Amino acid sequence: MSILIKNGHVANASEDYTADVYIEGEKIIAIGANLNYKADKTIDATGKVVIPGGIDPHVHLDMPFMGTFSSDDYTTGTRAALFGGTTMVIDFILQTQGDSLYNALRTWQKKSAGKALGDYSYHMAVTDFNDNTAKEVVDMIEKEGITSFKTFMAYKGALMIDDGQMVQLMKVVKDNGGMVTVHATNGDMIDSMIAKNRSLGNRAPLYHYLSQPEVTEAEASARFTDMLNYTGCKGYIVHLTCEGALNAVREATKRNQTVNVETCIQYLVLDASLYQQDFDGAKWVMSPPLREKKDQEALWAGINQGLVKVVATDHCPFTWEQKQMGKDDFSKIPNGHPAIEHRMELLFSEGVNKNRITLPKFVELTSTNAAKLFGMYPRKGNIGIGADADIVIINPKKTHVISAKTHNMNTDYSGYEGFEVTGKTETVLMRGKVAIENDKCLIEPGYGQFVRRSKVS
Ligand code: URP
Ligand code: ZN
Ligand code: ZN
Repeated sequence: MSILIKNGHVANASEDYTADVYIEGEKIIAIGANLNYKADKTIDATGKVVIPGGIDPHVHLDMPFMGTFSSDDYTTGTRAALFGGTTMVIDFILQTQGDSLYNALRTWQKKSAGKALGDYSYHMAVTDFNDNTAKEVVDMIEKEGITSFKTFMAYKGALMIDDGQMVQLMKVVKDNGGMVTVHATNGDMIDSMIAKNRSLGNRAPLYHYLSQPEVTEAEASARFTDMLNYTGCKGYIVHLTCEGALNAVREATKRNQTVNVETCIQYLVLDASLYQQDFDGAKWVMSPPLREKKDQEALWAGINQGLVKVVATDHCPFTWEQKQMGKDDFSKIPNGHPAIEHRMELLFSEGVNKNRITLPKFVELTSTNAAKLFGMYPRKGNIGIGADADIVIINPKKTHVISAKTHNMNTDYSGYEGFEVTGKTETVLMRGKVAIENDKCLIEPGYGQFVRRSKVS
């Protein structure tokens, strides 16, 4: 199958220009003005934006968490992602404490085999670091193409590792060409505040927010940054939300240290005022919680200063029934919210269309930087000759309204109900196949492939 995209406004992270793009099979073959190829299908992209397929490096599909499972699996999650222009996701494998990384890998391979529509890879969450884990980390990098290792500084008793384990993990990962990523919040401080609030009878979702103040994230981000500096390991902070944590990373630049930062779309466009309502606030119970307007300003500035490199989702959806698990106690509300479908359109609307970021910056944040940081560039995150033909065509002027009635995620509510966004994903190519066209998904489960990733240079 060959496809010719004519006359689009093509954007990469480095530049944007008007051009045609010619695709054969799964790859991009040519880019230029007035290309003269006879193709099986021609798409007129006049007035449209043509960008690399989005990469969301932070999603949780079919994940066991807080006594239940996130409600999107590899089929519903990657399908919804495609509707919003995300052609690849990186999901998290969770090691069970007391068990091996390989057993966890096999569990996630079963969850994903034959089910994904879009491409996917895994981060490996190390929740129990010991001598055997250290050996398995090397095998993950060398044999399995899994080169990033997630750590949690919170969720004690389930996922958290201590600072000693963290430093030992960093040493192994550094010596073998990987990256350590982190949920950077101070778990002990948070647990004590949760216990205090519960004992006082403060059980509403608002107290989820009040139990995780900014200092818990700023402190852990600074501590993680210091441990990276000590070990020389490459690091990435996931879902960074606030000014204090960003300042810890900024401070580290003074000693010429680079710490990679991801924020998520919700922290740019939603704020903590949403918790000022009764149980409805459970829709936004996630960790870290939504923050203040001043934090949103800090994050937008951090993006343009090059400190924030990736905008992801931390997509961890639950149905409204699942959220009821915490009806009488905020600490039992499954943490997470659905966003995999809306990241690109929300960022386009709030960022590019409101002149907060340029179009190349949008591409950098939604695909190119994730591809570079996680060992997939230039195959992914790039409209270039020889790259995978994962391509999104956006109508930049088309306005639409987000609603649970029309979204494709497996949740019966939306954290963005009624949000009007300008900029609509119209066509999505997934390794050379038309995946989304005329609001229909045209590919089947099983088309999505596991992507082996390279070492981090
Ligand atoms: O609330 C969240 N973020 N749920 C998913 C797990 C995590 O911490 O990323
Ligand atoms: Zn997290
Ligand atoms: Zn997460």
